[in-house]
Amino acid sequence: MKRTLGLLAIVAAAVVVPSTASAQHAYVGVKGCVMCHKSEKQGQQQAIWEKSKHAGAYNTLTSPKAAEIAKAKGIANAAEAKECLECHTISGDPGAADVKQGVQCENCHGAGADYKAMGVMKVKADAQGKGLTAFADKAAIEAMCKKCHNEKSPTNKPFNFDERWASIAHKKPAA
Ligand code: HEC
Ligand code: HEC
Ligand code: HEC
Ligand code: HEC
Repeated sequence: MKRTLGLLAIVAAAVVVPSTASAQHAYVGVKGCVMCHKSEKQGQQQAIWEKSKHAGAYNTLTSPKAAEIAKAKGIANAAEAKECLECHTISGDPGAADVKQGVQCENCHGAGADYKAMGVMKVKADAQGKGLTAFADKAAIEAMCKKCHNEKSPTNKPFNFDERWASIAHKKPAA
């Protein structure tokens, strides 16, 4: 019995390591989160995100500036190109749901289909076991931001974490 469990653990680890949350859990989009994360008491995550540039990141790819950048790179349509969608939306796959929501909750928190239920969300460890991204510390958060905020971005600007985070922070107020 012990051996079987050990083997199962190895198989599970082998499956888990190379894949990202997106490969294992389905995306639900912003609508799947905001019913519980919009009140003042919760920290108004919906309103803060809607005001942020992340919410408009897909629309940016339809702008004249995006067309100019794309043209210089020989890309026909920025809003359909994987090279642009991969940082401006939830997925580099133009066929995937919700690309128009731009950079949304699940880009940073993980695909939510399996953790968004109230009973799971209330227990942090359970939620993390079902796809909610765990950040060990501030450095881990900054590293996540820099998956997109880096020199591969055609318009990259220096990334000062403290300043940038301050402008999108969405903490739950202390009770
Ligand atoms: C049914 C209600 C509900 C839905 C839907 C929901 N959440 Fe939550 N979420 C909660 C509750 C309750 C907590 C526990 C903390 C609290 O009381 O605010 C929580 C906590 C969190 C936390 C903090 C975890 C921690 O403790 O560090 C994050 C991040 C989060 N939710 C993100 C999301 C995202 C992203 C989605 C959509 C994919 C989502 N939630 C959908 C109710 C919900
Ligand atoms: C999935 C890719 C991605 C991740 C992850 C990401 N961002 Fe962004 N971010 C973008 C894109 C794309 C834009 C530009 C949106 C636009 O202008 O249309 C942007 C814009 C911003 C802006 C507005 C910049 C300005 O011009 O003022 C801030 C602030 C920001 N991000 C902070 C953060 C922080 C802090 C993190 C990590 C906690 C983070 N981002 C994680 C893709 C990402
Ligand atoms: C590696 C991630 C990444 C890739 C790939 C990427 N972008 Fe961006 N893009 C960003 C980030 C992050 C920002 C926000 C600006 C900043 O802070 O650097 C941004 C901002 C922009 C802006 C607004 C810039 C401004 O100053 O108003 C445009 C336009 C844009 N990107 C177009 C594109 C196009 C077109 C492509 C594909 C050819 C593309 N991006 C590919 C990450 C990326
Ligand atoms: C650009 C990345 C990014 C986006 C987009 C984003 N978040 Fe967050 N969120 C974070 C980070 C980073 C933290 C802090 C995590 C930590 O301290 O461990 C956080 C914290 C939270 C918390 C915990 C707040 C607290 O103080 O307990 C909740 C709830 C949450 N986010 C929900 C959402 C929801 C809902 C959306 C979409 C409407 C969203 N987030 C969009 C990066 C993001």
